[in-house]
Amino acid sequence: MDKHLEEILQEAVEAIAAAPDSRALYEAKMRFLGRMGRVAALYKKLKELPPEERPAFGQQINDLRRIIEERAAELDAKLRENEMGARLATERVDVTMPGRRARQGALHPVTRVRNQLIDIFAGMGFEIFEGPEIENDYYNFTALNTPADHPARDMQDTFYVADGILLRTQTSAGQIRLMEKKKPPIKMLSPGRVFRSDDDATHSPMFHQMEGLVVDKHVTLCDLQGMLDEFARVMFSESSRTRLRPSYFPFTEPSVEVDVSCHACGGKGCSLCKGTGWIEVLGAGMVNRHVLENCGIDPDEYSGFAFGMGIERIAMLKYGINNIKLLTENDVRFLEQFK
Ligand code: PHE
Repeated sequence: MDKHLEEILQEAVEAIAAAPDSRALYEAKMRFLGRMGRVAALYKKLKELPPEERPAFGQQINDLRRIIEERAAELDAKLRENEMGARLATERVDVTMPGRRARQGALHPVTRVRNQLIDIFAGMGFEIFEGPEIENDYYNFTALNTPADHPARDMQDTFYVADGILLRTQTSAGQIRLMEKKKPPIKMLSPGRVFRSDDDATHSPMFHQMEGLVVDKHVTLCDLQGMLDEFARVMFSESSRTRLRPSYFPFTEPSVEVDVSCHACGGKGCSLCKGTGWIEVLGAGMVNRHVLENCGIDPDEYSGFAFGMGIERIAMLKYGINNIKLLTENDVRFLEQFK
């Protein structure tokens, strides 16, 4: 081999052998074999030689190249193995260490009760219908047999958005919207937010209701009570019973308040039911014939019942929550209890 090439080879072999790690080795190798490296410079020299000397010199450069490559590859394999060994030793994972538990969220109690109500009534063939939260006076009151001067409007004082436009006070407004579009048989369930100018431990200016409406031929109050019995059993306890008390709503006749036997004392009387054994849970009644007429349904052919309950109220009874504000404060310490 040409003396100059011998020298380069010697230097390359030494540089490679001295590399402490694979990165240094790569750099050493590139100093010789890289595009600007020592070996590349030899090709320039090759061009300057007389043509007859070129093949032999070219062959020598190629040999030089091959040897350097081989040496580098040998050492590279060794270095990499060592480096991998060192990494495996320092980055070892202790699979016996206890894991970090992921924090799990929970459904809000109002959402839970709403879903449960939907489950119960969907199982009886009810279909969901959602009306608008901003209503006009006609759907919220007038069509529900509550004309402008009716004293019942006072019980549901509300927020007016504009003249005749208000935040709905009851999901009952959805009854009218549905019956205008759909004719019997009807089995509607309507969950939603409602608004009233009310504010104390058990009343909030915004709360949720679940409305039910059934209209068909020969629907009676007994059908209503049968369905509500089933609702009470699933929602509160297997031994829950219901009781209807006469009441008044302009859009139902007769109207009833529905009580459920107290699930805390089983009806004996306790602080939850204030010693009566019964808890009022919802309002209901047979759809007033004027309401059916307002929607173009013949009250001599069809009858129906409707009920409306406050979802917060059911959640408070079910989970023993004593202040409705807890349901809107979103304190995770409170919410975490409903997992
Ligand atoms: N809309 C009534 C209320 O908010 C409840 C109700 C619904 C009563 C359906 C009778 C029938 O108080």
